[in-house]
Order: sequence, then C-alpha cells, then structure tokens
Amino acid sequence: MSESVYIHGTSEEEQRRLSLMNDVLLNPASIREMALRGDESILDFGAGLGQFTRLMAHAVPRGRVVGIERNEEQLAGARKLAEADAEKVRVEFRSGDVLDLRLGDREWGSFDLAHARFLLEHVPDPLRVVKTMVRAVRPGGRIILADDDHDVLRLWPEPPGFNDLWNAYIRTYDRIGNDPYVGRRLVSLLHEAGAVPRRNTWIFFGGCAGMEIFEVLAANMAGVIRTARETILGMSLFERDAFETVMRGYERWAKRPDAALWFAVAWAEGTRP
Ligand SMILES: C[S@@+](CC[C@H](N)C(=O)[O-])C[C@H]1O[C@@H](n2cnc3c(N)ncnc32)[C@H](O)[C@@H]1O
Repeated sequence: MSESVYIHGTSEEEQRRLSLMNDVLLNPASIREMALRGDESILDFGAGLGQFTRLMAHAVPRGRVVGIERNEEQLAGARKLAEADAEKVRVEFRSGDVLDLRLGDREWGSFDLAHARFLLEHVPDPLRVVKTMVRAVRPGGRIILADDDHDVLRLWPEPPGFNDLWNAYIRTYDRIGNDPYVGRRLVSLLHEAGAVPRRNTWIFFGGCAGMEIFEVLAANMAGVIRTARETILGMSLFERDAFETVMRGYERWAKRPDAALWFAVAWAEGTRP
C-alpha cells in the first residue's frame, strides 16, 4: 500500500492561512450542514490542527469527539490548542493512520458519526478510508465526507496564465497517486463502502472584491499554490520564472475592483445500514 503524502507542509504560515480560511469561510457552514443534536460521539479522520474537531466538540456538549491525525507536528499543535480551550470540551487527539486505523474492540461500530474533511484528496485509497469510517459507526450512524473537486475553481477576469498554473497544481495530486477530483466521487464512495447515501451538496466559498472576506479568500488561494510551489517545480509541471510571473499577476488581480472568485467544497452524507 502506498503512503499518503501531504504536499502543503505544516509551516506556521500554512497553518495560519488554513485557520483563517476555516474560521471565516468554511466552519460555520460546515457545522450547519451537519445538523448535530448535541449528544453525538464523533470520530474525525485527518484532524489536522483540530480546529474543526474542537468546533464539532463545542456543538456536541453532551457528546465527545476523537480526532485521528498521523502527522506528529499537527497532532502536537492540536493538543496544545485543545489545552488552551478554556471551555474544556470533550475532545481527544490520537496519533493514527486512517489507512490502517487502530481502535479499541469496543469502539468499532460504536460512534454516532464519522467525519472526514479535506482528507480523501490526500490519500491514495479513499475507498479504504470510507470503508473504515462505515465500520467505525453504529448501525444508523452517519458518515460525513467533505472534499475538494479542484475542477470547480473559477476566477474572473482571468489572471493571465492562472488556469495553466492551477492545472499544474492539480497534476501534483495524481502524480503522487491521489485524486484531485475526489469531491465528485463522495456519494459513490459512500455507496461502494456499504453506506446508504442520504445527502449531497456544496459548501460554497467564493466572493468578490468589495466583500470583507475577499482578501482572506484571495490570499488563501495564493497560499494553496505557493505552499505547493516546490512540489510543482520539482515535478517539472511549470517553469520557475513563469510561476513567479503568474503569481504576481494573480496578486494584482486580487486587488482589482472587479475580481470575482468561485470555489466550493463537495459535501455528502450517508448512513450505515
Ligand atoms: C488539509 S488537513 C485537514 C484538516 C481538517 N480535517 C480540516 O478540515 O480542517 C489534512 C490532514 O490529514 C492528515 N492526513 C493525511 N493522510 C493521513 C493519514 N493517512 N492518516 C491520518 N491523517 C492523515 C494530514 O496530516 C493533515 O493534517
């Protein structure tokens, strides 16, 4: 089995960018879609720094959340942030590989909900992960998947060369055996893994110049590409000089009064029969 590779790294800058984007753009909508009752036990696959894991824990004050993360740096950061969380929600971060998950005998088939966001695009075998998620929840339990389909990005007016650079970025996923379009497969993965698909939707994050969040949104997109720069160049998917030229054009575009950007996260839910 090949290893899953996470190309964006874990630098402070990358972590700040992800936090900001999540707080402003994604997390409130993601929590809304989950329609939690407040007493669920949740298993979060690929928890990262655990911001969303803890947000789910706040949304289930009578329940608990366990976050699984393989990267030790991310795990340490998640534990530190959780300690600083004054409200002391019931959240636990465990070291683990979602492609080879170890749970206690009594834990398998016991969770009310298994959740994975922005994880399946980083693993070579997403079906294996979703099957594990189905196994982790009780009959009637929910499996929630949220992931990227990189094809849905639109920028207008188009910054020169940006689409080519975005396509080079997309190629870095399949070059290492991951699926850059996994978002479109969420319902079929649920079905193949033995769950019954129940919902399918998008979480929109986009905007335009003139919106308060636009600077964060535009900076996030630039950050996504910049943190993958060495991977893109290392795989000879784009010329070094052209990379900088396109990114400078993008930064000028982000300041235009008529800049508009559309992106969305694919979101699907199923239940274990
Ligand atoms: C983009 S982050 C998403 C974090 C969080 N789920 C969120 O939505 O904010 C993806 C995380 O998955 C982790 N990851 C990737 N492959 C993994 C694996 N095989 N087992 C456990 N974690 C993994 C990475 O280390 C990274 O922290």
